[in-house]
Amino acid sequence: MSTKKNIIALRQKKAIVEKGGGEKAIEKQLAMGKMTARDRIRALLDEGSFHEYDLFVQHEEKNFGMDTKDLPGDGVITGTGTINGNPVCIYAQDFTVMGGSLGIQHARKITKIMDHALKMKMPCIGINDSGGARIQEGIGALAGYGEIFYRNTMASGVIPQISVILGPCAGGAVYSPALTDFVFVVENISKMFITGPNVIETVLGEKISQEDLGGARVHAEITGNAHFYALSEKECLQQIKELISYIPHNNEEKAAKVEPKKPKFKKNIENIIPSNPKLPYDVREIIYALVDDSKFFEVQELFAPNIVIGFARMDGETVGFVANQPMYLAGVLDCDASDKAARFIRFCDAFNIPLVTLEDIPGYLPGVDQEHAGVIRHGAKVLYAYSEATVPKITVILRKAYGGGYIAMNSRHLGADFTFAWPEAEIAVMGPEGAANIIFKKEIMEAEDPDAMRQQKVKEYIEKFANPFVAAGKGYIDAVIEPLETRELLLHALSVSRKKFDFRPVKKHGNPPQ
Ligand code: HXC
Repeated sequence: MSTKKNIIALRQKKAIVEKGGGEKAIEKQLAMGKMTARDRIRALLDEGSFHEYDLFVQHEEKNFGMDTKDLPGDGVITGTGTINGNPVCIYAQDFTVMGGSLGIQHARKITKIMDHALKMKMPCIGINDSGGARIQEGIGALAGYGEIFYRNTMASGVIPQISVILGPCAGGAVYSPALTDFVFVVENISKMFITGPNVIETVLGEKISQEDLGGARVHAEITGNAHFYALSEKECLQQIKELISYIPHNNEEKAAKVEPKKPKFKKNIENIIPSNPKLPYDVREIIYALVDDSKFFEVQELFAPNIVIGFARMDGETVGFVANQPMYLAGVLDCDASDKAARFIRFCDAFNIPLVTLEDIPGYLPGVDQEHAGVIRHGAKVLYAYSEATVPKITVILRKAYGGGYIAMNSRHLGADFTFAWPEAEIAVMGPEGAANIIFKKEIMEAEDPDAMRQQKVKEYIEKFANPFVAAGKGYIDAVIEPLETRELLLHALSVSRKKFDFRPVKKHGNPPQ
């Protein structure tokens, strides 16, 4: 009898805490077009799979009137559940409770679930909706963030870490996401900044809106902090589910295999690249023509669009694609594209996802802006990431492979396992016009008709070098292949690479360029 009484009391106690910051605060949250923290978890996880821990944890702060404040769950919900049957650890900050601000107990709930994720080797998802360090708690809040950042770093490369920004996230609330593998943002809802507009106004006397300072599009397009952009929370949660389907639970496993499917893209792969080598095309069409069901899950679609990265499946297994995009900046590598590609390559390598590189690159982007922005150190990240990666690495040169771009895009010299080239591939130090102008400068200048001489020399250069056969003749290209053979060869290369094991010198860790 008394057990029943206790059960009822427990249920009542739970119901009170589950109300979060109360009706008024919830109304405000909903009016902003946001779901509550608990609803977000319910909508993301398989029905009935969520189990919550530390519901009754309370803050211990006494200063600034905090001793009389009751903060349900200390502003964060933590637990475990499944997404399409895949186990995950999850936390969601509750903005209705003191702006989801982070005090030491709030942080301890998060670090506890992170420790659990690392021990149990499952992905950890953090839904961030927080004003950052709880100002009233001072050093306690800073300590809490430090402990989260430490665990983000320890878990990096061991379990996938996913951050979802679903509110105005400031201060420490953005640094933890920056340490994780994937960041999701939603139009009008997500804001990320180190210091909020009110602090900027106080310190710098400048007025700026949250949106302009660090809205979803700012981070999806300009800063590159975000990997996935959605128009609604619902769409965002769907994207997370899709990502989870492509990645493994941890670095000792492979992503789950699904039923293999043939590509359904209607365009003939031979007709995608225009016959004029100066004309652009959408490299995603080549990917659609190659992968199962023509499904490509693109990552950082809006940032540095001159390179395309993302997941697809071949014979039912996850593959990471890295492809130059001739539609933007002719597919060059610049600072942003290099950062984008390098981080993706390192993710795939850490989580046993083979890499397929589709190459059509005129080189690194020249110019003062890029040089001063550090294209040397940014570009070096691509060299480092490909060289370091030990997963199966396959390259297909579709068209141009010039200069540093040829080396950087997973060339044989950086450890590619298979390198294929299409018959119209041009592998050379630079484009024919530039090359002819330099090496035949004297002949062109001294000719009676310099333009005719230039044309002739360009033609000579194209015939000699702008083709795949010189590289193939030296064994740097394994096979010159027809476009229609590409899928078959990729499937074969992936299937014979399943047991790949590659050695690297023993070291504490490398020091990649930053
Ligand atoms: C305590 C906070 C808080 C915080 C918000 N609140 N942020 N309480 N500490 N950091 C409280 C508010 O007082 C308010 O309480 C409630 O949460 C909702 O906040 P509002 O300001 O009403 O909401 P909104 O207008 O939407 O603005 C959200 C915001 C703004 C942009 C996040 O609150 C803001 O700028 N907060 C401070 C952000 C910031 O600079 N944080 C940096 C902390 S330093 P009531 O009771 O009125 O409902 C930091 C250091 C770590 O994080 C660095 C690690 C490297």
